Amino acid sequence: MVQEERVSKPNKGVAVTESSIVPSPTVQTAMPSPEQILADTEAAPKILDRLNIFPFDWRVETPRLMEIYESSRDPGWSPSKLPWDTLDVSKFTLDQRYAIAYWWTLLSVFDASGPAVFARAMIHAYEVHEEDAIRKCFFAVTRDEMNHEEVCGRAITMMTPNGPLGYEPETLLGKLARNNIEWLYHNGARYWTGYKKAVEHYPMPILFSSFLFGEVASSTLFHSMYESTDIPVFKEAFRNIGRDEGRHLSFCLALLKEILPRLSEEDKDIITKQFRAGFIFLSGILYEPPKEFWQLPDTFLPAQRLLEEKAREAGFNILTLEQRRENWRTAVVRLKTVVEPYGIKFPALPEVGIDGEDVAFDPDKIVPIF
Ligand SMILES: [Fe+2]
Ligand SMILES: [Fe+2]
Repeated sequence: MVQEERVSKPNKGVAVTESSIVPSPTVQTAMPSPEQILADTEAAPKILDRLNIFPFDWRVETPRLMEIYESSRDPGWSPSKLPWDTLDVSKFTLDQRYAIAYWWTLLSVFDASGPAVFARAMIHAYEVHEEDAIRKCFFAVTRDEMNHEEVCGRAITMMTPNGPLGYEPETLLGKLARNNIEWLYHNGARYWTGYKKAVEHYPMPILFSSFLFGEVASSTLFHSMYESTDIPVFKEAFRNIGRDEGRHLSFCLALLKEILPRLSEEDKDIITKQFRAGFIFLSGILYEPPKEFWQLPDTFLPAQRLLEEKAREAGFNILTLEQRRENWRTAVVRLKTVVEPYGIKFPALPEVGIDGEDVAFDPDKIVPIF
């Protein structure tokens, strides 16, 4: 007997006939017995990859980190809600615009790299099965850094549409800014290559000590820029970014308070070296870029000096070199007082008049981040 075929249309345009349905692979006649199943179970293969996000657990070893994470869920501001309408770009000369965009581009090497850098750290924290609180805190910082990156982007593209590189500078100063920016990004790219290796190479206590340096630097920088700039929207941005960076600093301090007392002497020596590396990298914005890492032509600093002066003329008061040295020194002393009680030796930083250990510098393993 030929069975009548009923046609149903579960998906748009695809006709399925009942006779074409394959019977389900399991024919269930009675409820299975748990004892029987358990007797037949096999162990799942061990996950042998050194870096794998599976299996998961949600243990919390540092509850203070969870508290800070909780308070960071809503950073309380948004780049899109800053008073950008108060920024009348037409009031600035072309050179003033190039100069302000230039400073934000310099900042972008450190702060606009933040989302990618912290996201990478977050993935790494999953892969090495760090506690939930550490994963969460990296996520929170990634989120904040995305806001900081957005501010860099808005400032740069308002001052120089399609900036920092997608436009043709029309003045001498603009051309100098362009050349400097290309060199900055050349060094940013080298930093990223080193960072990717370093993040997998070092254990969390060392990574966090380096992050601590970045956060000390960034909170100091944004605080001083907040105080010195006369341009309202930038002042407001610096206030908010500075507060975020202060929270990142709290994350680092909360974790380090737990892990620094347990460090081996070898780890402590690596931290001393990483502090020197951090100082060299971060000096690129906090002070002046040292040659040990920064590959820059001889024209770089004179051009930067002209650009800074031009930005000051427009009310964007970048600190003078002397002010920067003092500021940087204060920040470094802050860091030194945090870590020295744990028996971590501080490196010599003669650039800002700090005595300490002489340590080698490896440009391939740079960790600090904003
Ligand atoms: Fe940042
Ligand atoms: Fe930060």
